[in-house]
Amino acid sequence: MRMTIEQLMDGVDLKRLQLLGRLHDAGDERKFCDYRQHGGDAINRAKHLGLDQGPSVQVLDIGCAFGYFVRACKLLGHDAEGLDRPNPMYAEACSLMSVPVHVYYIAAGEPLPSEVSNYDLINMEGFGLPGREGVTHLDDVPAEALWSDWVFFVTDLLDRLNSKGRLAITLNAGRAWQNNLAEWRAAFASRAEIDYSINRIYLTIR
Ligand SMILES: C[S@@+](CC[C@H](N)C(=O)[O-])C[C@H]1O[C@@H](n2cnc3c(N)ncnc32)[C@H](O)[C@@H]1O
Repeated sequence: MRMTIEQLMDGVDLKRLQLLGRLHDAGDERKFCDYRQHGGDAINRAKHLGLDQGPSVQVLDIGCAFGYFVRACKLLGHDAEGLDRPNPMYAEACSLMSVPVHVYYIAAGEPLPSEVSNYDLINMEGFGLPGREGVTHLDDVPAEALWSDWVFFVTDLLDRLNSKGRLAITLNAGRAWQNNLAEWRAAFASRAEIDYSINRIYLTIR
């Protein structure tokens, strides 16, 4: 099924959605008001992940922002929800989009809430790294410590997948260690099949 942007946004108050950046005095994040761009990206991502065919599955989108990907999944017949940090603009956008969202700040070394579980697919695009208290520039943190934060976080996500579940990641951070396949294999190969292509990584529970 090919979904159009009009189908994706049907029933959403687009005037209000486009105003959110100004109403909430958002900086760079006002880019998400461009529903054609971000809605189109979400439709393409859903297709890329094969969600336009096959049975209904349970989906979580980490760092969902306005919820375009979650909405696309729901319209394709899946049971989908998002997760993002507290942000009044995102909260209003997700409400306008009728997208259920877990409002939660992902912090280094802390597991996600227990109710965030039982997914067939976890999608994560453009999420940088779990936050560290008191640290504004992650460049100030040793690479080994950031990698161990990352391993903790990804392991926690794998724990929340059903049998044969998939974790699909598009990396944003561009840190050398995140692109090191040997590191990924050492950390996760005992639990998951790993497919890797430049900044895209797919882990499928064995
Ligand atoms: C670059 S945006 C990507 C948004 C969307 N996934 C996309 O691909 O267009 C990164 C998202 O991750 C969220 N995020 C970043 N750090 C987070 C944290 N520590 N906890 C929860 N969400 C976080 C941001 O609020 C933002 O929505």
